[in-house]
Amino acid sequence: MRISYGLALQEGLGQGRVSRKVLEDFSYQLEKAQGRLEDLRARGKVGFMDLPFKDTGPILEMGKKIRRGFQHFVLIGIGGSSLGAETLFHALKGPLYNSNPHRGGPTFHVMDNVDPVKTAEILEETNSAKTCFCVVSKSGSTAESMANFLITLEVLEAAVGRDQARKQVVFITDPEKGALRELAREEGFQALEVPPNVGGRFSVLSAVGLLPAAVLGLDVKALLAGAARALEACKTRSLETNPAWVIAALHYLHHTLEGRSISVMMAYHERLATFADWYRQLWAESLGKEGQGQTPIKAVGAVDQHSQIQLYNDGPKDKIITFLHVEEFAKEVEIPSLYPEKPSLSYLGGHTLGGLLNNELIGTAAALAKNGVPSLVVTIPQVNEEVMGKLFMVYEMATALSGHLYGINPFDQPGVEEGKKLTYGLMGRQGFEDKGKEAREIWKKRKAGEVAL
Ligand code: PA5
Repeated sequence: MRISYGLALQEGLGQGRVSRKVLEDFSYQLEKAQGRLEDLRARGKVGFMDLPFKDTGPILEMGKKIRRGFQHFVLIGIGGSSLGAETLFHALKGPLYNSNPHRGGPTFHVMDNVDPVKTAEILEETNSAKTCFCVVSKSGSTAESMANFLITLEVLEAAVGRDQARKQVVFITDPEKGALRELAREEGFQALEVPPNVGGRFSVLSAVGLLPAAVLGLDVKALLAGAARALEACKTRSLETNPAWVIAALHYLHHTLEGRSISVMMAYHERLATFADWYRQLWAESLGKEGQGQTPIKAVGAVDQHSQIQLYNDGPKDKIITFLHVEEFAKEVEIPSLYPEKPSLSYLGGHTLGGLLNNELIGTAAALAKNGVPSLVVTIPQVNEEVMGKLFMVYEMATALSGHLYGINPFDQPGVEEGKKLTYGLMGRQGFEDKGKEAREIWKKRKAGEVAL
């Protein structure tokens, strides 16, 4: 994997203030941020860097049992509790997995939203007696996940009875706290742990991502080896060797020196589109604090060239782009040489679709560079478990470092918590009555301006 950043430097772009010298001088700030992060890790406050080295025996064992014993696997969770597993599913299995009779394991579904149609349809599609429901919630209190859990449990108990239902539900939650942990203790539900010092969006390499990965039959060892390899690189103190330094520094410098407050991740492979969703959450929820942070946007090439690129090239100069560039695709398709007499068709003949896609990436990056829009290119030889492990760790490290550069805590999410509390109040949760009242008062104000048709 390589991260090429010449087109994010003044030397490559031919304009802007972010030169190689500015970047190199910034090493001092990166060194300080790295020191702070390592200190937090040494004091046990931050745990995501330890995940590649943990004992995964019980997780893999449970994963194997579920893979052998069930026809369907439903992950109930939201945000950091679902996006990592979904990213792995889409990157390494893809949209045809559930309909493939030779897939060798259960079908895979994610019940993240509280969209009634989505939940109802997943429950209709998965025959309860043959389904494992995995409820992932670190806090054990997130309204969406708890609502979907309660609905599922009732359906399951009605179908298979109380005792059997407890054999088909697995929790992944805090080792001590929260309603799920209490239920595991009181009613014998099986439960795996989210380490207390690992936040949801940094938890993909814990049971949160690894159990679904094992159920899907993915190579968990290679995933963790990739993450460990990336961590080695991300511990070095040089822009020559540390990809997290490069990503964090260039985003921060372009934001603070050039006003580039939007970070676009544009995946030139549909299988990596969900990685861009994962990145979007990580970057937004970790860094969007105290008036700081960049707005992350997900885009998919070449589709979004016909939707977004006009804006990126010609709109406000407020973006820095990251291209995800895959060298070798798992499948390739040749474009036939038909209609040699028609120039608008004949030039395509003999090329592959992968070749076309990657030339579109080059064309887009070049056009953006001509317009002074900086970009980084993450080149991935092929999408596999090891590469996914590297990607997760590099971006987690870059995010954690960026938090320290901005002077904010990248590991909390006070803005999310407030919305959660207001919803608890609206839904009548005890102890949150004032929050409910406050939310209703604010909501009334929408009527101050209104138009009807
Ligand atoms: O990254 C985070 O902390 C959040 O996105 C959480 O993962 C999300 O809010 C779900 O929380 P929980 O796992 O407690 O249900």
